[in-house]
Order: sequence, then C-alpha cells, then structure tokens
Amino acid sequence: MPNTSDTPVYVTDALIAEDIDAYLTQHEKKSLLRFITCGSVDDGKSTLIGRLLYDSKMIFEDQLAALEADSKRVGTQGQEIDFALLVDGLAAEREQGITIDVAYRFFTTEKRKFIVADTPGHEQYTRNMVTGASTADLAVILIDARKGVLTQTRRHSFLAHLLGIRHIVLAVNKMDLVGYDKAVFDRITLAYRAFASEIGITSFTAIPISGFKGDNITGLSANTPWFKGPALIEHLENVEVGSAADEAKPFRMPVQWVNRPNLDFRGFSGQLASGTVKPGDAVRILPSGKTTSVSRIVTLDGDLPEAVAGQSVTLTLADEVDCSRGDVIAATDAPPEAADQFEATLVWMADEAMIPGRAYWLKLATQSVSATVQAPKYEINVNTLDHLAAKTLDLNGIGVVELSTDKPVVFEAYADNHSLGGFILIDKLTNATVAAGMLHFSLRRAQNVHWQATDIDRDMRANLKNQRPALLWFTGLSGSGKSTIANLVEKKLHRMNRHSFLLDGDNVRHGLNRDLGFTEADRIENIRRVGEVAKLMTDAGLIVITAFISPFKAERDMVRSMLPEGEFLEIFIDTPLAEAEKRDVKGLYKKARAGQLKNFTGIDSPYEAPGAPEIRIDTTAMSPEEAADLIIDRLLG
Ligand code: ADX
Repeated sequence: MPNTSDTPVYVTDALIAEDIDAYLTQHEKKSLLRFITCGSVDDGKSTLIGRLLYDSKMIFEDQLAALEADSKRVGTQGQEIDFALLVDGLAAEREQGITIDVAYRFFTTEKRKFIVADTPGHEQYTRNMVTGASTADLAVILIDARKGVLTQTRRHSFLAHLLGIRHIVLAVNKMDLVGYDKAVFDRITLAYRAFASEIGITSFTAIPISGFKGDNITGLSANTPWFKGPALIEHLENVEVGSAADEAKPFRMPVQWVNRPNLDFRGFSGQLASGTVKPGDAVRILPSGKTTSVSRIVTLDGDLPEAVAGQSVTLTLADEVDCSRGDVIAATDAPPEAADQFEATLVWMADEAMIPGRAYWLKLATQSVSATVQAPKYEINVNTLDHLAAKTLDLNGIGVVELSTDKPVVFEAYADNHSLGGFILIDKLTNATVAAGMLHFSLRRAQNVHWQATDIDRDMRANLKNQRPALLWFTGLSGSGKSTIANLVEKKLHRMNRHSFLLDGDNVRHGLNRDLGFTEADRIENIRRVGEVAKLMTDAGLIVITAFISPFKAERDMVRSMLPEGEFLEIFIDTPLAEAEKRDVKGLYKKARAGQLKNFTGIDSPYEAPGAPEIRIDTTAMSPEEAADLIIDRLLG
C-alpha cells in the first residue's frame, strides 16, 4: 500500500520539562493504536480530531503559540475560543495539503499512544481513505446525526471491512444539534447495523458524541444520561490491538534489499509479514523454492535470538542461495504459493477508468511485476451490495476482477495476510497509483499450465535461416504509408534471401482479429494478439514486419518488453494528420469528418506518437523507396 511520511509532531507535556527520561520510559511502554476517521465533507471530522488533540493536550507547539498569541490579542482565555481556533488551524492546514494524501497526527493519553490518519472526506479522495486504512487497527465512521447513514458512510464502512480493519466505531456526531435525542441515535444505530451485517461487519461500537462541545469524548456527558458508555477516548484506549494473530501464522519475510557491504557478509533485509524466526530455522526462498537455514538475525542493536511479525531485521543464511529483492523467505514446511493469475477485489482510484487489457505495474510487498486486468466479473454497488455487470471500473468503482502477471508473484489471500495479499496498480506512463487490490486466490488454470521446454530453440531456428530474428514495428496514422513502406521492405528482404513475414492491420482484422473493432479496449487487444503472434514468429527465426496504427504507447512498450533487447525496432511513419487526410487513400477521413465513422484515429480517437523510436520516417521528406532502404540499412547494417 502507498505510504506517506508521518507529520512531525511536537508535544507539550509537563513531564518532558521536568524529567525527560521518565517521560520517555512511560511513553515507550504504552501500546500504539493506529486508527482512521472516515466521514463526508461536513460530518465534523476536523472538529473531532481537533477535540481529540485538544482534550489529550496534544497541541502542536506552533499552534499553541499561535493560540496563545491570539488569546492575548483578543484578551480571552476561554476554552471554547481556543478550541475553535485550533480547529480552524487544522482545517486550513488540510485545505493547503488537500492534494497530498493523508495527514498522520499523533497524540497520547496516559494509557496509550495514537496515530490518527486524517483523510479528506470528498468522494474523490477515496484513495486517501484506502491509504490511511491500509495500516489502521480501527476505523471511526463519523455520521452527522442530522443526516444519518449516507452513501459515503456505506462506502467507507465497506472499504474499512474490505481492508480488514477489525474494529469499527460508529460515532454519531453533532448530537448537540439534535437536542441529544436518544431516538435519533437509536434510529441511526439500527440503520447502520442492518447495513453492517450485510457486508460482514459483525460488531461495532456506537457512541453519541459532539466533537464541538466535547460530549462523550473523554468522559460520559451529562447531556446523554441514557448513554452508558464507553466514551470515545476510553474506548480507543481499551480496544485490544496487537500482532498476536500475525505472530501465530507461518513465517514470511519479503526481501526489501540485499545487504552486501563486503564479500564476507550477505544479509537479506525486510519486515516480517507474519510468524516468527530464529537462527537455525529451515527456510525456503520463493519463488525459486531453494531451501537453506537462517544463520543470524542482525539488527543495529546487535543480533537477536528471535524476530516476530512486524519487526524489521536482516537475516543471514547458511548457504549461498540466490535471493534478491522481491523474493520471499518463508518457513519450509508452510510456504506461500506463487502464481501468475488471480481473482481479486479492486478499488479503482484514478480519474481515468480502468482499461481492460492494458498493462499496469503491480506492486505487492516488495515485488513489482507487470499485470493486465480483464474486464470486471462484476462491480459492487456499495449501497445495495448488488453485483452489477461492468465493462470497466470508474473512479471509486469497486469490483471483482481476474488479472494476470508477466512473472509469478508470491502471495497469500488478503484475508490471511495483508502484506502478501494487498497490492496496488500503477499507471506505467504517469506513475500514478490507480487502484488498490486484495487478492482472493490464484486461478487453477494457471497452476495447471506449465511452460514446456522444447529442444530446438529460437537460436537454432534462426541459425538454420542464416539470419537474426527481428520485429520491425511500424506505427503511424491511418494512411500514413505504413503498409506501402512495409511491403517494400519485405520485397527487398526477400530479394536478399531473408525469411520474413508481414502482418498488416487490415489483413489481420479479416481473420485472427475479425471480432475486434476500434474502441480503446479492442485496439489494445488487437495489439496484444499481434504482439504475441509476432513474438512466436521471431521465435521461429523470422524477420517480422507489422503495420498497425498501434496508437498507444503502453501497448507498443508492452510488445517491446516481450522480446529480447535489441530485437524490437519501433519505426514511426511520421506523416502529419493534415497530410494523411489530404491523401485519404481509402476515403476514410472524409467519412470520419462527416460523422459516419466513429473512433477514427486522429479525429475522435487519440494517437500517441513515439517519443524515441529506433527509426523515424518523415514521409513528406522522402519517398517510400528511400524509406525502405533506410530501414534495411538500419536492420542489417
Ligand atoms: S489499431 O489502432 O488497432 O492499431 P489497425 O492498424 O489494426 O488499428 O487498423 C487500422 C485500419 O483499419 C486503418 O488503416 C483503416 O483502414 C481501418 N479503420 C477502420 N475504422 C477505423 C477507425 N475507426 N480508426 C482507424 N482505422 C480504422
């Protein structure tokens, strides 16, 4: 899951001034609760967080100074005034930082330390909630007592549950504005219980509060005599957290980096995702499956006799086995699986909808692979929990999908292990995080299909033909001259006794790809199939020439990555739109302009020109004949 750095905090506490050692000791012993507050825009989230910080006396030093200066200026000392100022300050801070993910705020009480992930409430910031929730033990779902359960309440609860947050607090806020009416509180609790049980939340703690007035925050309020507790902070202090459950699971440590300061030391650093490990324990490296045992557990403070889930350590191994970043070191007797096809729940977090068939980077623990997602099996309506048919997922869409990766991924079901089952998808061009996902299971069809090693390999086939295989990938607008030049290139190669094959867009679309049209998804699938066929043909030893518009950089790059380095030559037939339209060999531009042909490249469907093609042909400056010669020179020269 994506991470943001914690906001630095400065605490003011009488003990710090008096006895710093005592303060630190007292502080260290306290357990830590990470929680997230979720609510809609006006549910009073800032006020509540301000109240928690204020009541626990954890005011940021600079804010405190500002508060003091201000109260001197206006000559008041009243708590209400100071509190309101604090809240304004927090809100303003958030306004400024609204685009930068999540603010983590720290406070402490006598019993426990807290980190609260403060996430903006607008619908478009679901991604921030996912970020904050990915490390939280507890979620405070805020409800405005005047409004009751809203779509956002359901979305946030659903996400909190999906992300495996075990403790849910339903904070019915602004009770002061409904006259502290028990009936209002009961009605909202009942409505929420019905929804919660449907999504599998079996228990939650409902608390009537007023963040603004401070009711039921630190202690029980006289305004709600009908409420028997607990107060919010009291509940946060006592709710049981801990990694006992993670420690009981089998040992797994994703390798973050390999530590090799000199030839005598080779350590593997990472955070234990689950289980415990001791020197001498037998371990298996995945995905290779090699076995060895642990020699030492090294930390900055010396060697450890044992490490437990959540700890970051460096392991040294008894044997010189291959092990690198992204591998997982696991208990030999209960290793996790590795697979390359999965079913998963996906939460889409980008403005641009998901593109089925497109390759995204998938990051899971320390592994990073290329993954393509298929059209969703279904999308989930968070209000009704209905399963809807869907071709894609839009911003905030939640759906169940199948995805495949280009390399095996070591994983566990998210339900069993968050570190090895949770992942994010990243757009390869913009580097933006576009989705968060939770793996359910690997697809059996992937487990039962294995790569068959054959005795005659691609080099032997190419040698027989006395040539080096290559893929000449033409790209350019319709009517740019791809087919004409490609055809000339193939004729010249043939004369030189080279074995070649030309795959042309219009022709392939009559056979193999006759089921595909010109939507974005269909073009992506068109190029994927052509890429696979071209790759097989280079394996056969051929010089393959393809002439497809191939308008998207991502798919051209995908084909490039399928071939050995240097075998893919991108040839950009650079004919300006105006020129291609003037030539209009097939009369298609005229039709497109007349509105008779939809999704026409260059008119109402995009073309992403290559940034750094191996060869660029300016057809306004050279003849097809000259272009073909230049390409052959480059290929064989
Ligand atoms: S690609 O975008 O998927 O790479 P491809 O090269 O296979 O396209 O097919 C392009 C050819 O299909 C064009 O040269 C043209 O003759 C024809 N065509 C029909 N409709 C369209 C359209 N909407 N956009 C582009 N080309 C089209």
